[in-house]
Amino acid sequence: MNPHLAQLRPYPFERLRALFASVVPNPQKPPISLSIGEPRHPTPRLLLDALAAGAKGLANYPTTAGAPALREAIAEWLKRRHGLISLDPATQVLPVLGSREALFSFAQAVVVPNPFYQIYEGAALLAGATPYYVNSLVAGDFAPRWADVPDAVWARTQLLYVCSPDNPTGRVMRQDEWRYLFELADRHDFVIAADECYSEIYFDEAAPPLGALAAAHALGRNGYPRLVSFGSLSKRSNAPGLRSGYVSGDAALVKAFLLYRTYHGSAMSPAVAAASIAAWNDEEHVRANRALYAQKFTKLAPAVCAVLPAHAPDAAFYLWARVPGDDADFARRLYAEEAVSVLPGSYIGRETGGRNPGQGYVRIALVAAFDECAEAVERLVSFSRRVG
Ligand SMILES: Cc1ncc(COP(=O)(O)O)c(C=O)c1O
Repeated sequence: MNPHLAQLRPYPFERLRALFASVVPNPQKPPISLSIGEPRHPTPRLLLDALAAGAKGLANYPTTAGAPALREAIAEWLKRRHGLISLDPATQVLPVLGSREALFSFAQAVVVPNPFYQIYEGAALLAGATPYYVNSLVAGDFAPRWADVPDAVWARTQLLYVCSPDNPTGRVMRQDEWRYLFELADRHDFVIAADECYSEIYFDEAAPPLGALAAAHALGRNGYPRLVSFGSLSKRSNAPGLRSGYVSGDAALVKAFLLYRTYHGSAMSPAVAAASIAAWNDEEHVRANRALYAQKFTKLAPAVCAVLPAHAPDAAFYLWARVPGDDADFARRLYAEEAVSVLPGSYIGRETGGRNPGQGYVRIALVAAFDECAEAVERLVSFSRRVG
């Protein structure tokens, strides 16, 4: 057995199950889950049709590099979405089976934001690296405090994970922050893994979140040196079960990663590839999906923010809300009394410098249909008034 396995913490949803194990949720109220970031809008028909049509390819082993048509569709989409002039599908794009497995297998030695998507930590630990946590605090508008990282840590860093739009805070990185990180990456020779799994969930059609490749492009960083972006269809196209995403950026890194993946054995099924091509080539279902989230955030978020201090997120589908007292205690009582589940923030943060930046927060995922979210928010608001 890999000795590093002993360092892994239980996944936050395991901890949530343990927290709720002895709780009987109020039987008068149908349970509503706002704890898991799983999209619950329906998967578009065009994906399902393409998936069925693509099933004839199941008779052959797929290649790790992926079907040229899929690499082409991803590259074209990235160029359209981020205004990139050049992106070579043959050398700068790689299909992956959702961004999670790719984010995981990419790790070497690692700096991670805090709170954070838990895969970054597991990847670092199992690679034998020591994660260094960079807090995102309300005082700094939830920008990760990169400037607090000592030079000695940057000097040892091989990989930096950046999440924008961020899970859980919903914050989007700005151009000046990217510039700062690119300069650090050049100076200390490390790689930036930009997790952009939420890039297509935003609220203003006229203002899509700035992407890492676009930030590099704007700075004239031709070839995207030291940068790899991770994207996914899971949230964009409501297809978390499809397991489809991409890695794109620095051709030398994409090449090395492809070599690794050839041994790892993570080639995409042709049926999944066919559905993915259909999804990347269509923007209409993505706009319709965004409209559903925009409606929920416009109509429901203000009620939550009125009782639990929370910023309206720049993007993604979470509210990162301050709660009175202990966050796990709040989540357990909310579940018991109102049958609504949310994720305690301390479960997705780590204590550094004597504080866990997730402590005292809960993550509320507005993923369910509008009426269900509205009902959950009503219960959450009345509960918060009672305990606040
Ligand atoms: C920040 C972040 N990155 C990556 C993922 C993984 O998504 P997928 O593997 O479905 O692409 C998630 C899933 O919730 C996430 O929250």
